[in-house]
Amino acid sequence: MKMKAATAALIALMAAPAMVAAGADDDTLIINEEITMTTKAPAPAHLSDALDEVMSGWHFRSDGTQAMQMDDFDNPGMIGVEAGLEAWNTAEGSEGKSCASCHGDAESMAGIKAVYPKYNAEAGEVRTLQMQMNACRTERMGAEAWKYDKGDAINMEALLASVSRGMPVNVAIDGPAAATWEMGKELYYTRTGQLDLSCASCHEQNYGNMIRADHLSQGQINGFPVYRLKNTKLNGVHSRFKGCVRDTRAATYKPGSAEFVALELYVASRGNGLSVEGPSVRN
Ligand code: HEC
Ligand code: HEC
Repeated sequence: MKMKAATAALIALMAAPAMVAAGADDDTLIINEEITMTTKAPAPAHLSDALDEVMSGWHFRSDGTQAMQMDDFDNPGMIGVEAGLEAWNTAEGSEGKSCASCHGDAESMAGIKAVYPKYNAEAGEVRTLQMQMNACRTERMGAEAWKYDKGDAINMEALLASVSRGMPVNVAIDGPAAATWEMGKELYYTRTGQLDLSCASCHEQNYGNMIRADHLSQGQINGFPVYRLKNTKLNGVHSRFKGCVRDTRAATYKPGSAEFVALELYVASRGNGLSVEGPSVRN
């Protein structure tokens, strides 16, 4: 009964019959004619019951949107990277320090984005990149925390993503991260809202299909932060989750909440093996 209602709700959302829906395309993403991205990869072991292959959301966008991501001059998300670099080198807070004072060049962060969210032993918690940069700001710089998923934090995240571009996402899901990962998985598969849909209803069972005017992807987050043509700014992972949950007409969580941190870890792990692509361009 429940299954039927959910399926009916989903079919009602689908604008076009399955025939029209096209899967992922076979294009190759090379950035600046230099960095070749892994945009399709064998599904990680923990997903082998559900998927054979994982794919970047890039494959589901139009040729025009795809092209914008292939050259940094055409990628509006790079403006955020530049702003992030300026912040990286700017001293702030009571200690008179910048990120660069301790970390050196931003390039020293190559590889970091690929392994976040990550368990921090000292803090005893799984941290997203934004939580970690705010810990550095509040505990080491004597500066205020940046607002979650807002301009400054997103620009810095875009900078840290850009120096990891092309490296494979490889978040740890075992050991001390396991409990958080399980919580994220639970959230991913729980049907919510008036439409009784889970993340999996759309992004696992129906990727490749059209929903309203949108081509459904696997909902991967290797491309974040994402410059969206729809709101003409860089968007964070949690803001995207919030929008998707709202679309199921369910009450949603706040960016930075424990639920979304757990969901981010779980969704990131579904993309283990794909290249870090941020900042990417989507509609
Ligand atoms: C006073 C020195 C200091 C400053 C300033 C500082 N950090 Fe850190 N940062 C550290 C130390 C020490 C660590 C490692 C400790 C840890 O992992 O908990 C760290 C860890 C990190 C990590 C995690 C690296 C990893 O391997 O997981 C990131 C990301 C980071 N800092 C970003 C920033 C950013 C962005 C800024 C500026 C907004 C900044 N930091 C400013 C000292 C600093
Ligand atoms: C009713 C269907 C639906 C549900 C349920 C849904 N989404 Fe989405 N989601 C979309 C659509 C449509 C898009 C835009 C097209 C695309 O990128 O797939 C999208 C985009 C995304 C993206 C951006 C992908 C990219 O490459 O930019 C992420 C991440 C995402 N969703 C995660 C989630 C998560 C996590 C959940 C569960 C909390 C969820 N979605 C639930 C429909 C849905």
